[in-house]
Amino acid sequence: MLKGKKIVLGVTGSIAAYKAAMLVRLLVKEGAEVQVVMTPAAKEFITPLTLSTLSGKPVLSEFFNDASGAWHSHVELGLWADAMIVAPATASTLGKMASGIADNLLVTTYMSMKAPVFIAPAMDLDMYAHPATQHNIEVLKEYGNHIIEAASGELASHLNGKGRMEEPENIVKALKDFFFTGSELSGKRVLITAGPTYEKLDPVRFIGNYSSGKMGFAIAEECARRGAKVTLIAGPVSLPLPHPAVERIDVESAREMCDAAIAQFPSCDAAVLCAAVADYRPKVQAGRKIKHTGEGMTLELEANPDIAYTLGRMKGEGQVMAGFALETNDGEENARKKLEKKNLDFIVLNSLEDKGAGFACDTNKVTVIDRKDKTVYPLKSKKSVAKDIVAHLSKLLVALLLLVLPSTASAEGEELNATVNLNASKVQGSNTEVFTMLQDALNEFINSRKWTTNTYEENERIVCSFNFVVNSYSNDGSFDCSLMVQATRPVYGSSYNSMLFKYEDTSIKFKYQPYDRLEFVEDNLDNNLTAVIAFYVYTIIGMDLDSMGELGGSEFLNKALNIANNAQNLGDAGWRAGSSNNNRYSIIDDYMNGAMEPMRKLMYKYHRLGLDTMFKNADGGRKAITECLPLIKKAYEDRPMAYFTKLFTEYKIDEIVNLYSKCTPEEKKEVVKVLSEINPSLSTELDKITKNDN
Ligand code: PMT
Repeated sequence: MLKGKKIVLGVTGSIAAYKAAMLVRLLVKEGAEVQVVMTPAAKEFITPLTLSTLSGKPVLSEFFNDASGAWHSHVELGLWADAMIVAPATASTLGKMASGIADNLLVTTYMSMKAPVFIAPAMDLDMYAHPATQHNIEVLKEYGNHIIEAASGELASHLNGKGRMEEPENIVKALKDFFFTGSELSGKRVLITAGPTYEKLDPVRFIGNYSSGKMGFAIAEECARRGAKVTLIAGPVSLPLPHPAVERIDVESAREMCDAAIAQFPSCDAAVLCAAVADYRPKVQAGRKIKHTGEGMTLELEANPDIAYTLGRMKGEGQVMAGFALETNDGEENARKKLEKKNLDFIVLNSLEDKGAGFACDTNKVTVIDRKDKTVYPLKSKKSVAKDIVAHLSKLLVALLLLVLPSTASAEGEELNATVNLNASKVQGSNTEVFTMLQDALNEFINSRKWTTNTYEENERIVCSFNFVVNSYSNDGSFDCSLMVQATRPVYGSSYNSMLFKYEDTSIKFKYQPYDRLEFVEDNLDNNLTAVIAFYVYTIIGMDLDSMGELGGSEFLNKALNIANNAQNLGDAGWRAGSSNNNRYSIIDDYMNGAMEPMRKLMYKYHRLGLDTMFKNADGGRKAITECLPLIKKAYEDRPMAYFTKLFTEYKIDEIVNLYSKCTPEEKKEVVKVLSEINPSLSTELDKITKNDN
């Protein structure tokens, strides 16, 4: 995700400057190109040599290079970068950035920056809490910068409190989150309304409300990050464009918002109506400022259009619409009435009874209600709430697509015919819903995703099963599961399926909460569950293609190998190279290792030339299978501990016994000899070959 990204890292004079070294290292490791710019004071805390060594580029600090006279152009840096991070950012630098005091290279670079800027403050707790600092942070936020809030803990002053620079890992995560572009909403158009409306009373006064637009803008950003084209109709708010892929239409009154929404909605797949629309406007707008008369005054109001209701009547097949309900009492009851009346697919209830929820603040506490279910979420940042809401939206869009366009949907994921079963009997407690939802989500993830660009006919899909057993689960969504993965391929011309792959994975740890969308980005593995699934899917597809053409599955087996390599840093069980002869890394490493090439060739000989032929020509088919025996032996000699020879001597042994039940004594002798060398404990099964005479 950060691969190839050009990042300017601004380092200022704070004790936390030492963390900049780790930050550079992590960014470089992610594949980013890092240019460090230091303030003069930062050099008192960490040497430029350290940072230039880690970034592989000379550190910039002064406007001119004294030796060469070269000018370090902050303007060019501003154009070069894909992002700027200021970490650590001292109170002084925050103040300069907020006020435009450009007296060093770092602040001039910031002011020339065309790319998004991330700021990670670091200072003593009192300095951090000081109104001046908080004001500067608010100003910087208003300018569209991304503030990575300071963490709490022990500070350099030995006091305990908020002011520590966020850990480099989390800063990198924030950056990766920003650059993450999911794909599940790609090709979709989403309409969002946000902010308040102002209803004019006279040229200087209006009726309005406290909505800041933060909630709606966060939803727009999240939809854009997941690939949607977003039209954001914004009431009067002072927020910057949340994402470059968002088209913004600024309006002031409810009628303007309604006109814009009616014009946009027909070409949209979904709408999220988050604006706090004024229900009434003054019946008469005075052309001039209403004068103070000393008398009382009665305002006559007339109803504004209800935008959600209007769009709800227009809503067509295949469109999804979500609204909000801002309540002060009887929240759920009122929200459900609005859900029905406005013909919404779901409604997001937030109540002013909850502290930290609703207007203006950076947090919200919501309950998502649809016709069947409701999900209560805890207090979260509005950005996290937006993720939950958009996950819900995209789930409904997918479900609708399946309903409305069955033929298109089935063209999506067409490689696998997988069944997913999640057995939670060991841990079944109060919340059983989460297990059903996870099972559904896994089914959808595996079967609806297009894993290759190949075309598979319905009867060519690879039949496989993913059987999870939940070994432990806690309410924060932490799971530890075992998984039995099994895949077969059809033997052409018969109704028989031959085993391709079978493996029991003993521990997969991951987090899942209801409505979480399962996401997988090959080069950015941050979800262990989907990484594991993708690994097995690619392994299965690769092995299937190996069985169709000699070494035919390389492209997908390499993808599995790539996942196993990338997962080395996840720290999750089952991936670590060298820790076991029987984990995901060693499975694929063995299989793709040159030493196991005979094994890969065997897949083709055994299945395509052997089993597929056997239906028409039993002897010819078995001859090809017998020719595999030296290949199994060779693979076993080269890598005795490798998993794949076991597949033949354990899981496929019944099949082999069956195949050799009718053949010459020489063939029987050969197969018994080879297999008993590989696995001496097979004697009972191999005896059946020798004794079976039919
Ligand atoms: O902007 P923030 O400061 O971040 O605050 C966020 C928020 C509190 C404004 C947001 O979370 C929220 O609750 N928005 C909806 C506010 C509201 O008007 O709620 P309501 O219950 O009155 O309206 C119900 C639904 O009908 C809403 O989807 C609203 O957009 C829509 N509506 C209402 C009236 C109207 N005339 N037209 C509408 O479309």
